Amino acid sequence: MDMVIKKIAVLPGDGIGPEVCRQAVKVLEAVAERFGHRFEFSSHPVGACAIDATGNPLPDDTLAACRAADAVLFGAIGDPKYDNDPTAPVRPEQGLLRLRKELGLFANIRPVTAYNALLKHSPLKAERIQGTDMVIFRELTGGIYFGEKGRTADGTAYDHCTYSRAEIERIAHLAFQSAAGRRRHLTLVDKANVLETSRLWREVVRDLAAQYPDVVVDYLFVDNAAMQIILNPTQFDVVLTENMFGDIISDEASVIAGSMGLLPSASVGAQVALFEPIHGSYPQARGKGIANPLAAILSAALLLDHLGLGTEAELVREAVDEAITNHILTPELNASAPYTTEQVGSYVAFWIADSNEQQWSAHNIAIGISTII
Ligand code: IPM
Ligand code: MN
Repeated sequence: MDMVIKKIAVLPGDGIGPEVCRQAVKVLEAVAERFGHRFEFSSHPVGACAIDATGNPLPDDTLAACRAADAVLFGAIGDPKYDNDPTAPVRPEQGLLRLRKELGLFANIRPVTAYNALLKHSPLKAERIQGTDMVIFRELTGGIYFGEKGRTADGTAYDHCTYSRAEIERIAHLAFQSAAGRRRHLTLVDKANVLETSRLWREVVRDLAAQYPDVVVDYLFVDNAAMQIILNPTQFDVVLTENMFGDIISDEASVIAGSMGLLPSASVGAQVALFEPIHGSYPQARGKGIANPLAAILSAALLLDHLGLGTEAELVREAVDEAITNHILTPELNASAPYTTEQVGSYVAFWIADSNEQQWSAHNIAIGISTII
């Protein structure tokens, strides 16, 4: 393939965001080197660190850099000093929410896989979760997150949930298309027995289903879905849901993978796409070298897919599989012989740079005993 030149805006954010992003960038650099591409990275503040520096969780320059990029790699945002202050006038999360809205990132795609080598790390029974392979399509720029919110004169608080037919159709098409290329099974998760917005979701999905005759459609209420996801996760292929239900069930589903540190996501829309791990900023772990970089690295693989670099993305996933199979893992998945964030990233990067040299050289490099670097 000809040399590909792409601009990647990196928004490391807060907490462990910078350290996991550093590993994802290292992996992308290894991909560039191996395939002769050029990725031009630029780093921009967002979240609590941006509030500290500029008073704004999404500075104009950061937004402009994202718009000008081919893709955005995002770390994590959030800081306990805001979590514990419900009256804070500006919050780090506003940076991410505004970024999603400004970039029109209406679909958040969250794959959930049970890795055989990690089944014992899930608190769920191995026989229940083995073989899980689902993708959650979470609507990302509508619903209760973005509806009118406020307080009335008597101090009552409200958050409105609204959805238009068009908002539902555009993500539903993506979910149907994904299902058509997978196991042809789509589950709509809603609360149509109570919520009017959910009834509209059902109507729209039922109408679109006629255009995808090969896809079997199921409808589940979110309370039942929450139970089914941990009772029998292999029944799911593509799960489609609105913003807040998707936020909640995707954290729940990460328990199947064995660690939140393994789940990547892609947020796509009209223009530039954004790639971020589903985990948060995990401030307690910051700077300790214990954060799992694999969710960020797998997000980088989704970024490569999005740029049309499927072979490259596949190699990243192979390298991650290799790390998992060989237990080159951070402490939450390898308590007895843990590797650091940096070592896991190096292992994956070196495996990509030269997978012919095989795992041992990658391993030596990861643990710092190689003479190559
Ligand atoms: C996520 C996060 C965000 C969300 C927060 C940080 C605003 O939990 O990406 O899942 O609720 O969407
Ligand atoms: Mn969340």
